[in-house]
Amino acid sequence: MRGLPWFAKVYLVAVIGAALGLLGHGVVSGRFAPLDWSTLLVLALLFLVCESMPTLLSVRQAAVSVSFSAALAAVVLLGADGAALVGMTAMLSVHPGLSPVKRLFNGSQFAICGYAAGGVYQWLGGTPHVPDVAGFDDLILPFAGAAAVFVPLNFALIAVILVATGQADQVPLRGLAQFMVSYLGYATFGLLIAGLWATVSSISAVLVLIPLFVARWAFGQYLAQQRSYDATIAALCQAVETKDYYTRGHCTRVSQASGMIAEEIGMGPERLRAIRYAGMLHDVGKLGVPTKVLQKEGPLTEEEFAAIQLHPMRGLEIVRGIDFLDEAFAGIMHHHERVDGKGYPMGLAGDEIPEFARIIAVADAFDAMTSDRSYRNARPIEVATAELRKGAGTQFDPVMVSAFVKALERDGWEPPRKVVPPPADDAETTIKDHDDPTMPIQVVAER
Ligand SMILES: [Fe+2]
Repeated sequence: MRGLPWFAKVYLVAVIGAALGLLGHGVVSGRFAPLDWSTLLVLALLFLVCESMPTLLSVRQAAVSVSFSAALAAVVLLGADGAALVGMTAMLSVHPGLSPVKRLFNGSQFAICGYAAGGVYQWLGGTPHVPDVAGFDDLILPFAGAAAVFVPLNFALIAVILVATGQADQVPLRGLAQFMVSYLGYATFGLLIAGLWATVSSISAVLVLIPLFVARWAFGQYLAQQRSYDATIAALCQAVETKDYYTRGHCTRVSQASGMIAEEIGMGPERLRAIRYAGMLHDVGKLGVPTKVLQKEGPLTEEEFAAIQLHPMRGLEIVRGIDFLDEAFAGIMHHHERVDGKGYPMGLAGDEIPEFARIIAVADAFDAMTSDRSYRNARPIEVATAELRKGAGTQFDPVMVSAFVKALERDGWEPPRKVVPPPADDAETTIKDHDDPTMPIQVVAER
């Protein structure tokens, strides 16, 4: 508790106090006496097993468990008091290093959720009992009500403590609807456990949860695979960025800005992931451009400029073997095309340019303008967006420009920190940036 803000302490005490008060009242008033303790024990064990084996929802988000399937089964089989007791067992879960206060809070919030869900279940006409086949239909509405209270309440109780302890970034607000729907889907396993209880008793829990555990294991494997993809991409980016001291972080920011545009125009999760990869890797072809060309002072010869113009093709050659990149290839290959057809490498125009490439072109130019370069300081965001608007319809796709401006107004943008110039000869720098629309590369005819 030490070191927590006062409102976090008050909140913790309130949640723990409410749960202990609830359970204490149950003991004193004898409400727990008629419960079927063997059912309660099986469900509590099941709850503990699930709670002790959380699954990562995504690479960045906190781990969550599907233990509430057992808590919701308890709502049907034992009622509000039984569900509260099952929920309280979360404090005994196997999480090495979890402090006693966190354990107590976790158990308490589950106990409150179980009790509230049980109350709603009974309010909607459900009676706590072992259901038979004939009465199964009558369970559905009260159970749906219980799940609709349990899941959001559980989310809210945890979200408040995360916000109060300065971990607001762990609250999965983005994609919240998808998160809730998937959890309500998991909740139906509780109904299945309860429905099968009359026939196969406690084995129903095992029958229902085996496929669930297999699904969770498969999801864990998928996440591990995603992490290795991310690490591969990050390594390639780092290789590109060592070519120029001033472009460090550029790949990541282009990826972020591309993601903002893609979200704004309503891309689905799979394509969003692909566009982020494409943003990270858009300039990977610079690895194939001679460093002496990238670092040359003064105008380039036509031959040298041609070497720079080849970098999208080189990029494609480098990453062609990575099959998970899929649609990202088009983004890498065409990110320097212009909607007026004057870009490179193919001179595509308008809708001929793949959507990924039209997105990256905007994100790329924006980050180049709002970052320090060896030959100028970063330009303010307003200047960069004005430049994007100026180029809309000629260099950039106007739809992508307005989507980006909209996303920027809503979400803001954190420009990169000021670059401290490196000591001479200590870092690779270039004196031109092919992404900067305000300072086109000078080319002279060879004599
Ligand atoms: Fe590029």
